[in-house]
Amino acid sequence: MEKNIDWGSLGFGYMKTDYRYVANYKDGKWTSGQITTDDKVVINECACVLQYAQTCFEGLKAYRTKDNKVVCFRPDLNGERMEQSAARLEMPIFPKERFLEAVKQVVKANIDWVPPFESGASLYIRPYMFGTNPVMGVKPANEYQFRIIVSPVGPYFKGGAKPITLRVPDFDRAAPRGTGHVKAGLNYAMSLHAIVDAHNQGYNENMYLDSATRTKVEETGGANIIFVTKDNEVVTPKSNTILPSITRRSLMYVAEHYLGLEATEREIRIEELKDFKECALCGTAAVLSPVGKVVDHGKEILFPSGMEKAGEITQKLYDTLTGIQKGEIEPPKGWIFEIN
Ligand code: PLP
Ligand code: COI
Repeated sequence: MEKNIDWGSLGFGYMKTDYRYVANYKDGKWTSGQITTDDKVVINECACVLQYAQTCFEGLKAYRTKDNKVVCFRPDLNGERMEQSAARLEMPIFPKERFLEAVKQVVKANIDWVPPFESGASLYIRPYMFGTNPVMGVKPANEYQFRIIVSPVGPYFKGGAKPITLRVPDFDRAAPRGTGHVKAGLNYAMSLHAIVDAHNQGYNENMYLDSATRTKVEETGGANIIFVTKDNEVVTPKSNTILPSITRRSLMYVAEHYLGLEATEREIRIEELKDFKECALCGTAAVLSPVGKVVDHGKEILFPSGMEKAGEITQKLYDTLTGIQKGEIEPPKGWIFEIN
C-alpha cells in the first residue's frame, strides 16, 4: 500500500523510510549485503571518514510510470561513476553489477515509498560508501561500509519551475588535478560555506569558475549547467574538473536526437554569458532548473528567457527528458531499468 504522504508538497529532504541496503568490506572482500530496518550507523570514533572525509556517494531516482511500473534512469552510469569515485579516493570498488542489484533490492523493499505517477515527486536513491576503521596517520581505511538509503523528494529548488538566480562566488569548488570530477563528499564539504554565504545574500546557488584562470564557467555546487545560444544550439562546459553529470549527458543526446538541435560541449568563457538566451541547471536532484539571472560581482546578466518561466528550449528539453524518465516517451536503448 502506497504511503499516506502529501506527495505534491514534498521538498528535497531526508525522510526515513522502512528499509536500507548495507554491505561491509573487511579483510579484502565485501559481505553479501542485506536489507535492514536499522537506520543507525555505528563506527569507531577515529574512523577514516570522520577524520579525513573518506567518503563518496551517488544520487539517482526511481519513478512510477503511467502503467504503474517502477523504473530507474540509467543506474548503470551511477554504478560506473561510483567505481571511479572510489578508485580516486583509494576505496575498494563496489562492482557496478552489485550496485545495480542493491538498487533493485532497496527500491523493491521500499516500493510503497515510490511516489505516484504525475505527483511531481520521485524516490531519491542515495548510495554511499565510507571508511570505517580507525586511522590516525593520513592513509586510507581498510574497512568500509556501502549503504543505500532512499527518500521521497520533490523539487530541489523551492518554487519548482521558477527561474533561479546564481552568483559568481569568490570561492573555488575544484582544483586542477583534484577531485572535482568524482562524487567525493569533500567537494560538498568545501562548498558549504559558499552556499550559506550565497543564500545569505539572496542567491539560490553559486556558479563556480575554473579555479586555474577564473575565466571559464564550470558548474554549481550540485548540478551541471547548460546554455542555449540565440541560434538554438545547446552548449555545456567542457572541463575535467566538473562532475560528469548523467542528466547532462542525457540532455545533450535528447537535444540532438529528439529535438534535432546542435549540442556542443566546449569551454565557455564567463564573458559569453550575455550572448546566451537561456540557461539551466541539470542533475538528478535539479532535473532541469531554469536560471533567470547570474550576478557576477555586481554585474547582472539577465537571460532573455526572464525570471517568470523556463525558456522555450529548456522547457522542451525538460518535457522530453522527464517524459522518457516517466515512460511516456520511447527511451533510447538501455536508459530505463525496470525494478518490478
Ligand atoms: N554536479 C554536481 C556537483 C552534482 O552534485 C551533481 C549531482 O549528482 C551533478 C553535477 C549532476 O549529476 P547527475 O546528473 O549525474 O545527477
Ligand atoms: C544529485 O543530484 O543527485 C546530487 O547529488 C546533488 C546533491 C547536491 C543533492
